[in-house]
Amino acid sequence: MPCQSSDELKKLVKEARTVTKHGQVADYIPALGKVNAHDLSIAINYPDGRCISAGDIERKISLQSISKVISLALVLMDRNKEYVFERVGMEPTGDPFNSVAKLESMTPSKPLNPMINAGALAVTHMIKGNSVDERFQRLLTFIRELAGNDTIQYNKEIARSEFETAHLNRALCYFLKQHRIIDEDVEQLIDLYTKQCAIEMNCLDLSRIGVVFALDGGDPQTGKQIMPANIARICKTFMVTCGMYNASGEFAIKIGIPAKSGVSGGIMGAVPGKFGIGIFGPALDDKGNSIAGIKLLELLSKNYQLSMF
Ligand code: DON
Repeated sequence: MPCQSSDELKKLVKEARTVTKHGQVADYIPALGKVNAHDLSIAINYPDGRCISAGDIERKISLQSISKVISLALVLMDRNKEYVFERVGMEPTGDPFNSVAKLESMTPSKPLNPMINAGALAVTHMIKGNSVDERFQRLLTFIRELAGNDTIQYNKEIARSEFETAHLNRALCYFLKQHRIIDEDVEQLIDLYTKQCAIEMNCLDLSRIGVVFALDGGDPQTGKQIMPANIARICKTFMVTCGMYNASGEFAIKIGIPAKSGVSGGIMGAVPGKFGIGIFGPALDDKGNSIAGIKLLELLSKNYQLSMF
C-alpha cells in the first residue's frame, strides 16, 4: 500500500520546520554534515498497513543511535536478561550521550544504560557471532525483518567516516575493557558499532519498525512475533526513560511517546497499540536530538492526545 501524503501532517511539518534555524547538523562524523539542515519529513504507519506522510519520506538516513534500541532487542534475544543487565544498567543519566564521566566515577564501573554510547558499545559487544561480519549480518537481517524491507544496507562512507573519527568511543571501549565489561579487540568492536550506526533507511522503514514496537514485537502484516513481547516492552521503557538522552524527562512530560533519536536527525516513535512514527530532521538541538522532529512530535502529541501518561 503506498504512503498517502497528508495535508494535516504537511501543516504540522510547516509549523515545526520554523525551528530548524535554531539547530545545527552534526558534523563530528564528517560524512553526516552533507545534508540540508531545513529538511523535515514524517511517516506514520498503522497496524493495518495504512500509512500517511509529509515531506520527502524516501530520503535515506543512517540510524546512528536509533540502532541502539534494536541491538538491545537482538542481544536480549541472544542472551538472557540477567546476562545483559549484569553488564549494562537500567538507569537514566543526566550526562551527554558520549560522556566518559560516570564510567570513571562509579563503582563498579558499569554503563548506566544501553542508550548512552558506553552502554551501547557494551550491548554491541554482546551480539552473538563468530566474526564482525557474521554479527553485523545477524543485526542487519533482524533490522530488515523489523522494517519489512530486505534491501536495507549500511552506508559505507558514513561508517568509514565515523570509524576514522571515533576517538571518544574508543576511549569508552578501553574503559569498558579495563573493567572487564568487554573482552574483544577495540578496533573490531568499533568496526562493528560504526557499521551498525551507518545502517540506512527512509522514514517509511523507520515508521514500520516503530509499529512493530507499538505492537509489542508483532509483525503488522503476518502477525508473527518478531521479538518476544517482554523484550519489546523493555525496549520501549528505555525509549521513555533514556531515548532522548538527557532531554528524556522533558520529552516524557511534553510528548509522552516512547521514542529514540539519532544524531543523523532521525527519530523512531512507537505509540503503544496505535502506530509507528519515522521522522527525519537533521538540524539538532544542544542535546543531539532533532530540533524540528521534537517540535513536530510535540504538535502531534498535543493535537491528537498521544501522551501515554
Ligand atoms: O556513537 C556515536 O557518536 C554515533 N554513531 C551515534 C550517536 C548518536 O546518534 C547520539 N544521538 N543523538
